[in-house]
Amino acid sequence: MLQAIEKAVRTASEYMLTFSDPKVYEKDGHSNYVTQADLAVQQKLFTLLEPICENAMFFAEEQENACLTDDPTWVIDPIDGTHNFMRGRLHSAISVALLINKQPVYAVVANPYRDEYYTAEKGKGAFLNGEPIHVSNEPFEKALVSFGSSPYYADLAAYGVKAVGRFLQEAADIRRVGSAALDLTDVACGRSDIFFEYRLSPWDVAAGALLVTEAGGEFVMPTLDAPDFSAPNTILAANPRCLARAKEIVLSCMQ
Ligand code: IPD
Ligand code: CA
Repeated sequence: MLQAIEKAVRTASEYMLTFSDPKVYEKDGHSNYVTQADLAVQQKLFTLLEPICENAMFFAEEQENACLTDDPTWVIDPIDGTHNFMRGRLHSAISVALLINKQPVYAVVANPYRDEYYTAEKGKGAFLNGEPIHVSNEPFEKALVSFGSSPYYADLAAYGVKAVGRFLQEAADIRRVGSAALDLTDVACGRSDIFFEYRLSPWDVAAGALLVTEAGGEFVMPTLDAPDFSAPNTILAANPRCLARAKEIVLSCMQ
């Protein structure tokens, strides 16, 4: 199953790279866009994934979605990092997870620009191009912290700015690269130690969450007892050494 999903995502990744100057449309929210390529890649993924798990539902960024159910459901971000994609920044991803009972069981995230394919199946570890990956073991004071600015929600800007200030004082440094899916794979393979964002949607995080946990890391929604992939939420991913302090900071800056 995982191999079949990876094959579909590889095909969709090649297709994504064929769009050099896609049409851009505005969506609801502050600075929120969709391109012709997002729509086309999503449609391509629907076609490629449908035969892999017949009767599975599709829950995807560029469509109206029904409520998430316990049935097998593909949770898809056809292009995560759309703004990067529009501006030729070469840092965007495809994110695909298969959820069963509302929890991710299979995950594939692709960085087509680097030919990097991250895969995980629940209970079987996480891999980058077939090689096992693991989160870092850095202590909090040496942590490289990536964050997302929740750009579509102006009301959250103040929380993010406050938290960034705290992390800058207590940890090593900050990154903001513009694709939550790749922020999560960075934590999974130890390229960074902490990632947080005050509001992300299920398609941004479902695959990355499984990759982080299968790589030995922690994925939490600090305001909830357990992750809920049915609605937008605050998210935090970290290596186990960094989790507690990172969670304190994220929660304490939400006011
Ligand atoms: C966005 C990116 C960005 C994050 C936003 C997401 P999109 O996804 O992951 O890094 O800060 O919150 O919505 O819209 O480019 O698919
Ligand atoms: Ca996204």
